[in-house]
Amino acid sequence: MKSEFPLLAAQPGLHYLDSAATAQIHRGALDAVLRHETGSRANVMRGTYALAEAADQAYESARTSAARFLNAAADEIVFTSGATAALNLVAHAFGAGLQAGDRVLVSQAEHHSNFVPWLMLRERQGIALDILPLRPDGQLDLDRLPELLHDQTRLVALTHCSNVTGAVTDVAAVVDAARRVGAKVLLDGAQAVQHGPQDVRVMGIDFYAFSGHKCFAPGGVGVLWARRELLRDLPPFHGGGGMVGEVGPGGFSWAEAPRRFEAGTPPIAQAVGLAAALDWMMGLDWPRLRMREAELCARLLDGLHDIRGLRVLGSMRADRRAPIVSFEMAGLHPHDICQVLDARGLALRGGHHCAQPLLAALGVEACTRASLALYNDAADVAALLDGLRHAAKVLR
Ligand code: ALA
Repeated sequence: MKSEFPLLAAQPGLHYLDSAATAQIHRGALDAVLRHETGSRANVMRGTYALAEAADQAYESARTSAARFLNAAADEIVFTSGATAALNLVAHAFGAGLQAGDRVLVSQAEHHSNFVPWLMLRERQGIALDILPLRPDGQLDLDRLPELLHDQTRLVALTHCSNVTGAVTDVAAVVDAARRVGAKVLLDGAQAVQHGPQDVRVMGIDFYAFSGHKCFAPGGVGVLWARRELLRDLPPFHGGGGMVGEVGPGGFSWAEAPRRFEAGTPPIAQAVGLAAALDWMMGLDWPRLRMREAELCARLLDGLHDIRGLRVLGSMRADRRAPIVSFEMAGLHPHDICQVLDARGLALRGGHHCAQPLLAALGVEACTRASLALYNDAADVAALLDGLRHAAKVLR
């Protein structure tokens, strides 16, 4: 599998364990970008010459691939610059219809990108924010949902999978509780998409956001999916070319969705690369890959358990999490650990992982995170465990 990822193929000594931050790009995605840039590069939705039409077609076909990946319709897909932009779009466009007295529910497990936009909306429009706490094992405490959901709750905006503990949200339980009070449900899928295609219809949600760079595609592109009937009525967020009908000194009319939400030149080549990555992913045997990821994760958790003074955040059960494992080592700073590991060819992230509320809830200031993707293998895990034992020796 590593041979399909140009960077990993070129650097055989590298143990890349930071795919939750950015996954490596698949060769097919890179080739698609090169083919597009050298064969059909032009702006989209503007020109009528053959090259521009080829670019239009490539871009719209990318939208269809993104829709297939989510079991959605192409006109429900908005291309953004990433998951953060998609979440901000919802906070502005859906948020514009909220006012003082309305409530949004988020959780302590959120990445800042699904927390700060709602804090900003609270400042802008005086909504109330309810915060679902975590259980000690890092899972969302869904038992608390009934008391935190109100008739005024308009949106439940939760992570699909934590970028720190790997805990996967029980979506069915969330949707069931949210529907009882008539709230919409948004999932931040940034960490989930890397582990296989998603089905927004089966999940029964209303909004889904993810980034291309976390699913083996180029950076600078992301997706917001929203139910057609919701998207149809939302106001635009950004103004500019492409998102309008008529424009004059007196005002402007909106273009239809999804173009209404894609002001300016969109990330065309990036979307083409994303489509190639998603098409490739849709052809993989995910039950087998998920089992393989879970086995590797179990191996990692077992090994971490045996290292003295090391505490894993969240569940010790591999079947309860995506293969994202964060831990602290008594007396050692994550930045020092990461530096020692880096010298041995191990790439890991240490710090607060843009999830300060989650770290505060688990009582840590910073942690080290190993995140596994489909290209990782037992040698990566063994190198990490060796590296950590070495770090404990040299740093203590
Ligand atoms: N969201 C990315 C991470 O968790 C950047 O590292």
